Amino acid sequence: MAKSDGDVNRAAEDMHSDKLILRALGGEATARRPLWMMRQAGRYLPEYRELRATTSSFMEFCFNPAKAAEATLQPIRRFGFDAAIIFSDILVIPEALGQKVSFEAGEGPRLQPTESPADLDKLFPELEISMLAPVYEALERVKSALDGSTTLIGFCGAPWTIASYMIAGKGTPDQAPARRFAYTYPDAFQRLIDLLTRACIEHLSLQVKAGAEVVQIFDSWASVLPGPQFERWCLAPVAQIAREIKARHPEIKVIAFPRGVSPHHVGAVGHLEGINGIGLDTSADVEACIAATPAHVALQGNLDPLLLLAGGPELTREIHRIRDAFNGRPHIFNLGHGILPPTPIANVELLIREVRS
Ligand code: CP3
Repeated sequence: MAKSDGDVNRAAEDMHSDKLILRALGGEATARRPLWMMRQAGRYLPEYRELRATTSSFMEFCFNPAKAAEATLQPIRRFGFDAAIIFSDILVIPEALGQKVSFEAGEGPRLQPTESPADLDKLFPELEISMLAPVYEALERVKSALDGSTTLIGFCGAPWTIASYMIAGKGTPDQAPARRFAYTYPDAFQRLIDLLTRACIEHLSLQVKAGAEVVQIFDSWASVLPGPQFERWCLAPVAQIAREIKARHPEIKVIAFPRGVSPHHVGAVGHLEGINGIGLDTSADVEACIAATPAHVALQGNLDPLLLLAGGPELTREIHRIRDAFNGRPHIFNLGHGILPPTPIANVELLIREVRS
């Protein structure tokens, strides 16, 4: 097993663990690559579609501990991934701050848009934790159902990404409404980011208490911000969350997913105190990201979800190419973004076979 010299101690702490993901996040370049998929519980699975059909509202489904736990476990039972990620959504945080979230079929999330700083005064001053209790109960249920080899991952959206939905009221091609709001009302936007940063810390910490061993921070819209804005709205809050989670729970591993950012910014996230892994998206320049990131930080990714959907000989070649590209580095195999609903299950089975071969 290849490991960089400075990281032997860090890796040694986790050597007792049977969990490949924890070993990779401890800085070990494992021979067999741990594997999970973003959105691994979801519409490509017939058993998910069947379970999902029992509740019309997606948010209600997320807040049902028995159903959320079952959805989390479905891909583990079927495929035996190395990690289970709790079935929930990044938008449970706005909901628990008093901004109602709904999902119309095929349209994505809808919230009441934020037009001026006065709209932000309607939010609760702190996260209403009682509204999120079902998420923690779902984690407890999943934890007790997992065997000793599967890692349980909790998550939240990064403050910038959550804020971008809270301002626009939906997903847009470049989250321009939130960028414009941040330029026009920087003080009000800073207060929103601070509120969300505290909310993320609370939510992740409660997920850890309920059994999460790793937490992932999804910054899906990090790429739309120019440098100084990236530092203020993405890097600084993520740094604060990672530092505080480590202070409260030193044993917990933290993965950041700053989707679509340059290798330079991947490196900036990788150098933050408390970050153990970075998710790379499909478009990432892997060589440059490897060079920019400290050797003990695990890199996660980055198969194109569209190639997993398409399948064929190119899929097999690309899986091997990605595995080889990270040789000698702590690496967690994953997609570069969430699995697409029309993906054939046979392609997922092939992915698992090839990653583990
Ligand atoms: O990865 C997992 O399996 C865990 C569950 C999970 C979901 N959403 C379930 C979900 C996770 C980790 C998320 C994160 C999430 N949610 C992100 C960050 C990651 C990313 O994709 O960039 C974002 C931006 C959201 C917000 C969100 N939720 C959107 C934009 C949508 C609609 C897109 C779509 O695919 O329809 C959702 C809905 C959603 N969240 C679904 C699932 C399985 C699909 C709705 C359904 O099954 O009815």
